[in-house]
Amino acid sequence: MTNAAINEKLSILPKHIAIVMDGNGRWANQKGLSRMEGHKAGVDAALEIVKYCGELKIPYLTLYAFSSENWHRPSEEVLGLMSLLYGYLTKESDSLIKNGVSLHTIGASDRLPELVRKALFSVCEKTKGGTRLHLTLALSYGARNEITRAVQKIAGDVQDGLISLDKIDETLVSDYLDTKQMPDPDLWIRTSGEMRLSNFLLWQLSYAELYVTPVYWPDFTRIEFDKALYDFQARERRFGLTSEQIVNPS
Ligand code: FPP
Repeated sequence: MTNAAINEKLSILPKHIAIVMDGNGRWANQKGLSRMEGHKAGVDAALEIVKYCGELKIPYLTLYAFSSENWHRPSEEVLGLMSLLYGYLTKESDSLIKNGVSLHTIGASDRLPELVRKALFSVCEKTKGGTRLHLTLALSYGARNEITRAVQKIAGDVQDGLISLDKIDETLVSDYLDTKQMPDPDLWIRTSGEMRLSNFLLWQLSYAELYVTPVYWPDFTRIEFDKALYDFQARERRFGLTSEQIVNPS
């Protein structure tokens, strides 16, 4: 790629990308492997995309690693995913620090096994100085649960006299969500072709561009990521305005 092409590519990058990493099981099945082999390959794909986002200076990446509904999977698979996550947290923390990545988490983390929760918060704490990339793992995450928890906290604060009813606006609601420190995603990617949001960031995705690829997550390489970025760059983001207003803002 020429320098001009790289500069053009870098000029309109999303600031925050959220990804539903779907298709590990089908990828494994297609290859005659176990579902856990699929999830392991999924972790490798995720590591590569994290590295690439750092290189492209995309400041926020949020990965849907375990949904609140995933707790209902067979217990061996839940256990396997938890130990994979634990392994990732213990192995990768130095490399995250070295690469300026700060780790964050959203979701009902109190449901995670204690060992995993401790490792998770320890890595979040150790990496909090990283400013190149804010990597957020959505774990035990469900958007309706997140919004419900936010409503409970707001109601509690109103009851305690900390906020008054007339102070509740969209900014305040956003500030009570797990994602309070982040901009809303501008690009949402889902692999494996399903056209579903799956209870992921329902509030935050209001104006996101959606990109769905049939590629299974373990096959989602840098090249596939580039395709999503090019697709994003070709979109006209109007935020409810007309094209004319976007071209000639008053
Ligand atoms: C979907 O595949 C993936 C998940 C349930 C989440 C697991 C994700 C990873 C292991 C990758 C990233 C993890 C970390 C720690 C960064 P699926 O099982 O739903 O696939 P299927 O729909 O084909 O069965």
